Amino acid sequence: MYSRKVASQLRELETPFYLYDINLLRQTLNSVVSESKKYNYKVHYAIKANYDDHLLSIIREYGLGIDCASANEVRKAIELGFDPKTIVYAGVGKRDKEIRYAIEQNILALNCESIEELQVIDAIAGEMGRRVDVGLRVNPDIDPKTNHCIDTGQADSKFGIAYDEILDNTELIKSLKNINIIGLHLHIGSQIRELHVFENMCNKVNAIVAKLQSHGFSFRMVDVGGGLGINYDVPENEPIPNFASLFAIVHEYLNVGDREVHFEFGRSIVGECGELITRVLFNKTTATGRRLLIVDASMTELIRPMLYGAYHNIENITSQDETRMKYTVVGTACESTDVFDENVSLRKSQRGDLLAIKSAGAYGRSMASQYNLHDLPAAVYSDQLSGK
Ligand code: LLP
Repeated sequence: MYSRKVASQLRELETPFYLYDINLLRQTLNSVVSESKKYNYKVHYAIKANYDDHLLSIIREYGLGIDCASANEVRKAIELGFDPKTIVYAGVGKRDKEIRYAIEQNILALNCESIEELQVIDAIAGEMGRRVDVGLRVNPDIDPKTNHCIDTGQADSKFGIAYDEILDNTELIKSLKNINIIGLHLHIGSQIRELHVFENMCNKVNAIVAKLQSHGFSFRMVDVGGGLGINYDVPENEPIPNFASLFAIVHEYLNVGDREVHFEFGRSIVGECGELITRVLFNKTTATGRRLLIVDASMTELIRPMLYGAYHNIENITSQDETRMKYTVVGTACESTDVFDENVSLRKSQRGDLLAIKSAGAYGRSMASQYNLHDLPAAVYSDQLSGK
């Protein structure tokens, strides 16, 4: 874990902040690029996971496209030099001005999530005198076997168009003259650790593609989303996610002819390279005997534990005391749920010690808020620290 190596350099910095290990990010990008090349798969980075400029500029060097969830994300990607023709944009609720912007920018595909959205995009494209490339985001009804808060592809989910609804509206969709259906899109959920789930996904996609084809749809790409999970429990054991196995499964089971196959990875690209560094402010014990460690970060810097009950491994990176103690690590926000974890075994910790909250590179800083008028968290990058 990177923070442990540079702990002495971090001591004097103002906390809390995100620390990014740029070497690990580069190794992860090398892995995803070399493994995907074997099958000629196209990889987009899901910018919602982390839209930090420095990280994005590195990701761009490796030739990835971008997956966006808002027009502001599309704008950010374009401003940072990503080619619009590598940008896809999904989202259940695109505003008219967002649709207009995406059409103006001539991105690779707007992935549409309802029949009504298709009609609205068709109308807006017509007003603009344009014909626009879209993907149909289908709801595949698959259980991704992950935390329920972050599954997206089950029948009752708000995401994607129900498969039957697409079939029922075949003629209507084909009558929309200003849209060009170039792809099929789906995303079944996030933090998927049971890789056989992707096997089920492929079987489902094969059936959907065959059926849509028999209904007269021809499209050139299939975008199967992201979702590959990371090892939050013991990140040191698996700093780089297993892209090779995922691609091998998709290669074996997906059967979509010579269509391009696209992926949209967020967490698996940036998750492990980031840690939230926070300082111990106070020790105290509740009347019930619970030992609290009060740190200077909170749910405003990293909300995942409080929002989803998500686990992040925590370590005291500066204590020299070998004695281990159990703590409940709490933040500064004025909320009872502002707890990073309970019963955490740490080296004996005192005021001023630094804790690293690991695997926080994805959905950490990008979900930060200013509740209690906290400052937004700063970032420190390994390639800008002396000694690297
Ligand atoms: N594509 C689409 C359409 C998505 O909705 C997402 C994530 C991704 C790709 C990237 O998925 P990933 O490879 O990162 O699993 N805030 C939650 C995760 C929300 C994921 C939202 N969609 C968390 O902190 O766990």
